[in-house]
Amino acid sequence: MAGLKKSMSFSLMGILAVNCLILTALWVQKAAALPVTSHCKIDESDFQRPYFINRTFMLAEEASFADNNTDVRLIGDELFQGVKMQDRCYLMKEILNFTLGEVLIPQSDRFQPHMQEVVSFLTKLSSQLSSCHISGNGQRIQKNIQTLKETVKQLGEGGEIKVIGELNLLFMFLRNSCV
Ligand SMILES: *[C@@H]1O[C@H](CO)[C@@H](O)[C@H](O)[C@H]1NC(C)=O
Ligand SMILES: *[C@@H]1O[C@H](CO)[C@@H](O)[C@H](O)[C@H]1NC(C)=O
Ligand SMILES: *[C@@H]1O[C@H](CO)[C@@H](O)[C@H](O)[C@H]1NC(C)=O
Repeated sequence: MAGLKKSMSFSLMGILAVNCLILTALWVQKAAALPVTSHCKIDESDFQRPYFINRTFMLAEEASFADNNTDVRLIGDELFQGVKMQDRCYLMKEILNFTLGEVLIPQSDRFQPHMQEVVSFLTKLSSQLSSCHISGNGQRIQKNIQTLKETVKQLGEGGEIKVIGELNLLFMFLRNSCV
């Protein structure tokens, strides 16, 4: 009786061990299937900052009063056309990088006092995406980003004002894509 019980518990151990191996194998497979894109993530708590959200939206509102071109929208669903769900955060990372580097920082003596706080807030979000890359060549993504950059360039100073006026949209798209 004792012998039977012992062999049963041995076989139970065997089953558990095999299950454990299968789970490990599945986990390894899953990790391999989700390569670098897993770095494309921002902690949700970083978006839950009422003070900085308020400043971002105030700045956007202020700039949108100065934006007299209502025909063009920069941040919208067209940005995601042909872009896979898992690459959207990378795309938004690139838009954020452009917004900070080409628009907000060069314009940082304007729209004070909000600008400075918004720049530091967005820089913090951006730094969380420093190891976010895509696996493929991302031609479609680059094309969509390029379209936005060219539109801004064509609009000249009005384009930069429009980028600032759409910071509220940028914030929401970033949250939806990266959390
Ligand atoms: C931001 O906060 C101020 C008060 O500090 C308030 O008057 C304003 O309506 C708020 N704006 C937004 C967009 O939340
Ligand atoms: C919009 O503003 C720019 C300068 O900020 C000006 O050159 C342009 O004529 C304005 N366009 C309209 C339609 O008011
Ligand atoms: C934008 O990205 C480039 C290349 O990764 C980096 O060198 C630059 O510092 C970034 N700019 C900002 C404002 O984060």
